Amino acid sequence: MGFTAKYMVGTLWSVNWGCYDMGDKIPLPMKKGFGATDRIDAWWRGPSAMAFYLGIMVVYSTWRGFMEADFWIFEDFGRSAGTQTMAIESNGSHVLSPLFSPLIIPDEHSWMPEEIWWLSPAMFILIFPAGFRGTCYYYRKAYYRAFFQHPTACAVSKPWNAYKGETGLLVVQNLHRYFMYAALAYLPILSYDVWLSINFHEGDVHTYGITVGSLVLLVNVIMLTGYTLGCHAFRHVIGGGSNDWTSTGLARLKYKMWKFSTKLNEKHKDWALYSLFWVMFTDFYVYACTDPMFGWTDYVLWGGL
Ligand code: FES
Repeated sequence: MGFTAKYMVGTLWSVNWGCYDMGDKIPLPMKKGFGATDRIDAWWRGPSAMAFYLGIMVVYSTWRGFMEADFWIFEDFGRSAGTQTMAIESNGSHVLSPLFSPLIIPDEHSWMPEEIWWLSPAMFILIFPAGFRGTCYYYRKAYYRAFFQHPTACAVSKPWNAYKGETGLLVVQNLHRYFMYAALAYLPILSYDVWLSINFHEGDVHTYGITVGSLVLLVNVIMLTGYTLGCHAFRHVIGGGSNDWTSTGLARLKYKMWKFSTKLNEKHKDWALYSLFWVMFTDFYVYACTDPMFGWTDYVLWGGL
């Protein structure tokens, strides 16, 4: 080997291996400083839009949850328990907002101690759906980027460098699989609300009908079903640990359910975002039809009294 060839081999060796041992961390050639990057696309658009969207949803649901509570701040604005913007009952049916379902009305027969009657029912109900969404694999990615800049975006420098994974307080994210079971329980409850919404009563008269509100509730159940059954944890419960998809009827059923869950899972992000919007819209529809400030009417499309 001539001098030049030997020199080149030696140089390459020192660049690739001579300076770093196999286990060393090799610093990436990334710009440093919050938001610094070589990317030329509008990488900030996605996280900013997500922060805006999730921010509105969180503020709206919190405000609505507290609206039906007997808080002084709402009393001052003429809004406290008793405004009853939880359900439309003007047609003789019962169109209940999903934020208040299952309906908890404390009274002397209820298990709730009187001291906490001032709490809004939504505060008990939303713990589980909020826990389910807050620990969802998709939402974690979305709000870690949107709110915590951890990371800011791919190949974009973030304000904090230490990456510790989901340790410390974040181990609560492991509760996701348990929240999933709670979320599954809400699906029959919300389906029952759809059923109540098509039953009309007045005195002894009972009949059926469909209002715009019933359809809004129905779409809500469909959206939440798509979101919940496409959950990664649900898919794992259905198909995890199965090597046999064919030998028994049960195995074949599991396989079909797993395939269905996988299909939904492929669009989990869409189900997550659209179902959240629809839950809030459903609540807003009920609110707008029950508060005279909006003057909305829940029109009967078919049947009814
Ligand atoms: S991973 Fe999103 S709901 Fe379970």
